[in-house]
Amino acid sequence: MRVLVAGGAGYIGSVVTAALLQGGHEVTVLDDLSTGHADAVASGARFVQASLHDSGPVLAEVRPEAVLHFAAKSLVGASQQTPEEYWHVNVGGSLALLEAMRAADCRRIVFSSTAATYGEPEQVPIREDAPTRPTNTYGATKLAVDAMLTSYAVAHDFAAVSLRYFNVAGAAYGLGERHTTETHLIPIALQVAAGKREHLTVYGEDYPTPDGTCIRDYIHVEDLSDAHLLALPAPAAGEHRIYNLGNGTGFSVQEVVDAVRQVTGHPIPVEVGPRRAGDPAQLVASSDRIRGDLGWAPKHTDLAGIVGDAWSLIS
Ligand code: UFG
Repeated sequence: MRVLVAGGAGYIGSVVTAALLQGGHEVTVLDDLSTGHADAVASGARFVQASLHDSGPVLAEVRPEAVLHFAAKSLVGASQQTPEEYWHVNVGGSLALLEAMRAADCRRIVFSSTAATYGEPEQVPIREDAPTRPTNTYGATKLAVDAMLTSYAVAHDFAAVSLRYFNVAGAAYGLGERHTTETHLIPIALQVAAGKREHLTVYGEDYPTPDGTCIRDYIHVEDLSDAHLLALPAPAAGEHRIYNLGNGTGFSVQEVVDAVRQVTGHPIPVEVGPRRAGDPAQLVASSDRIRGDLGWAPKHTDLAGIVGDAWSLIS
């Protein structure tokens, strides 16, 4: 298939770009490099530096059969400080992209949504029919784009899939997380192991969980990538599907730190700090829907294996 990958210079987009090329697809990457890296774009893909707001001419020229849309601002904390940027890029940019697709008669899209659309869950594991009550602007903007895709499917015959990622980690094709502002637990713990930070701050030890630290569902980026390739041809015109993507097993911050100690052999000094605003105690996915519909199943369910793959790029 001839595809356009928006945000293909970022962590997840670059891994999926490499997987698409390996699968024989013809790939153009569109990325404004605001957070991505040009050297992460796999050779074999064409690269165009442009923002979502300027995607019209690129779509008109490439005339892709499908778009995979990873381009977004994704820092929960920052989304609370400068919400206007998040609405402009995530929602305004996505609207511009959908309009550019319509003009180029491309109506198939896979979109990176998030577990943050659910907010504080009433029930764990979280199913796709759970209430969506985001607790931050980042989650609200992703939920807005999910709604946009439903409208475009109904009104304009789009074939759309929203993949709601839980906590993506690990590395594949030699590509891992490289954020200028790193906020995620596993890369921060690995920076401590690599001697780039003195210690890790655990954000709260008083949650209603067995060891008092937050529980998250860590999914390997390669399993996530597999799901994109399965999702791409799945929906019919006029259909918008929503799938959660997680392992279905939760690990606490303490268990992640223990896994990083085991993998790296570094003691990982820890300080306990206050809770981080907006962190739910527990986020674990039910991925039964995508398992049933598309036969997807994660191959990397072992936390030490996920951490080890990320560490192998750094060490
Ligand atoms: N944590 C620490 N110390 C740190 C960093 C994180 O204790 O230095 C804790 C957090 O409080 C949280 C857990 O580690 O309990 C995981 O935090 P991450 O920042 O790695 O991930 P989040 O669960 O906050 O966020 C992820 C995605 C978001 C998405 C969210 C909900 O990165 O994009 O899941 O889906 F919005």
